[in-house]
Amino acid sequence: GFSWTLPDHPKLPKGKTVAVVVLDGWGEANADKYNCIHVAQTPVMDSLKNGAPERWRLVKAHGTAVGLPSDDDMGNSEVGHNALGAGRIYAQGAKLVDLALASGKIYDGEGFNYIKECFDKGTLHLIGLLSDGGVHSRLDQVQLLLKGASERGAKRIRVHILTDGRDVLDGSSVGFVETLENDLSQLREKGIDAQIASGGGRMYVTMDRYENDWDVVKRGWDAQVLGEAPYKFKNAIEAVKTLRAETKTNDQYLPPFVIVDESGKSVGPVVDGDAVVTFNFRADRMVMLAKALEYADFDKFDRVRVPKIRYAGMLQYDGELKLPSRYLVSPPEIERTSGEYLVKNGVRTFACSETVKFGHVTFFWNGNRSGYFDETKEEYVEIPSDSGITFNVKPNMKALEIAEKARDAILSGKFDQVRVNLPNGDMVGHTGDIEATVVACKAADEAVKIILDAIEQVGGIYLVTADHGNAEDMVKRNKSGQPLLDKNGAIQILTSHTLQPVPVAIGGPGLHPGVRFRSDIQAPGLANVAATVMNFHGYEAPADYETTLIEVVDN
Ligand code: 3PG
Ligand code: CO
Repeated sequence: GFSWTLPDHPKLPKGKTVAVVVLDGWGEANADKYNCIHVAQTPVMDSLKNGAPERWRLVKAHGTAVGLPSDDDMGNSEVGHNALGAGRIYAQGAKLVDLALASGKIYDGEGFNYIKECFDKGTLHLIGLLSDGGVHSRLDQVQLLLKGASERGAKRIRVHILTDGRDVLDGSSVGFVETLENDLSQLREKGIDAQIASGGGRMYVTMDRYENDWDVVKRGWDAQVLGEAPYKFKNAIEAVKTLRAETKTNDQYLPPFVIVDESGKSVGPVVDGDAVVTFNFRADRMVMLAKALEYADFDKFDRVRVPKIRYAGMLQYDGELKLPSRYLVSPPEIERTSGEYLVKNGVRTFACSETVKFGHVTFFWNGNRSGYFDETKEEYVEIPSDSGITFNVKPNMKALEIAEKARDAILSGKFDQVRVNLPNGDMVGHTGDIEATVVACKAADEAVKIILDAIEQVGGIYLVTADHGNAEDMVKRNKSGQPLLDKNGAIQILTSHTLQPVPVAIGGPGLHPGVRFRSDIQAPGLANVAATVMNFHGYEAPADYETTLIEVVDN
């Protein structure tokens, strides 16, 4: 029968302290001036790359290698950390929603039938990120859902949009709103009362994560549910264009607005008897709104009015909390993660990051599960992130603090695995500020040094990798790799992640001298890391895990 006991590795010992460092948004790309990692002083990561060739390599971090629909999909932290921690490739939210829409199964499920009850008398509200980024949501899925719901009886539909500019180019929001408006006008021709009702930029409205700043969610609640916002417009295209021009904010940070009718009344507050669907498939930035929509007891902000609604998520965002309780598509069932195996085999684990990435090295790493497997053997430390700023203002973020916590955990002798996420390359990369991203990369590199020095002191082992690319390429390029220029000859800044591979570097005095990367694995990806880390703890990975990256030669 099934057993949690891992087989001993035939050659590698137990009891070594293993540091697992995830550099968020740190890919490998050609060296040019838009590669902030190349431009920055990063002596530690450079020395790993230029060290023993059998201990540094690249792995895939995007597309099908991490369970995304196609190899045109850039990597992201959710799927990246899922793969790193689970050691297997799961079809992820984006793909599962595609399949459910294509087969029509989405409309047979419990979740859809639950919200459908409101179609006769109530309004169907769709709330989510409007872009084709494919990280949190996808516009084409929203289009299909609009079509499917209207064909199945939805007569009044309101869409509450969050503009992107983070997983896609800044300024692209206008085009996405135009596309949606066009679809909605076609529905109106068919006699369906369909409109955009509110909006705002994703980083300022609704899509906070890990409870960094509830004000963000409140701003969204006010606009979406109460129908109140500082800006009022007759239509959403005008709203986005005007706010971009007049408030000088980018898509990510647009202030909240509502669409009003001739008499100045909001066209789409959420009221008793309505149905709400949050159409993001990714959890981290929707779970806070899900709580506000679903919980009877809620004290994070004053909701003012709590309508009696039927609410479903595109996916269930937290399996542990069963939140939301209704959802249109079942999330990937990620089980038997490396974290759970190792803890059950006695590996004492410390995990740390700052707020904005804390859930990445815990929740995502552990297969979208919050909390400890065994609190006697685990400690998870969250360092509060700066809130209310964009991280180009403080590009060092909490890298030093994270590294010091990791160092202390390594030196304490209380842990076998010390795992961190260093957010700088990603969080600052997303701002599109190239100079600040260079500073960010340097800060991350300095943090790696502190951790590797501690590993040196205790005779341990390190594995340094990344979850996906970001800081290594800050410009949109054409097919042949040349920077794309806009009408005015300016480059188009790439705020998003990339399709680039990421490094895996291994070493440390505790690593058996015969360990080297295998050369016989076809196109390995992030999912191959879990088995590798299990080996470093002296275990073989379960048979169904993606194979280890290493072999041990006798010398
Ligand atoms: C975000 O949520 O900030 C971006 O859409 C994706 O970034 P992450 O995958 O690195 O968290
Ligand atoms: Co990112």
